[in-house]
Amino acid sequence: MSQESPKPIKIAKIVVDPDACIGAAPCVTVAPGVFQLGDDNKAYVVDAHAADDDTILLAAQSCPVQAISLYDEEGNKIYPEE
Ligand code: F3S
Repeated sequence: MSQESPKPIKIAKIVVDPDACIGAAPCVTVAPGVFQLGDDNKAYVVDAHAADDDTILLAAQSCPVQAISLYDEEGNKIYPEE
């Protein structure tokens, strides 16, 4: 049974899948302190604490190939929803 309670999100872990990332870079545009493009044109996490959770979620949602996964403190996947 799922309960929809509007609890604030708590992002504990950000994972970029380099195989999925196509270097589209909106994640960098939305949260440049958190995501940067490497020499291989793949995004990587610079500083997971450089933006608030809403901004990080927005950045993950902005990825056209959903290469960014977010997890909470208990290791539950916050985004993308499955
Ligand atoms: Fe890559 Fe997605 Fe960012 S394709 S560059 S992780 S928005």
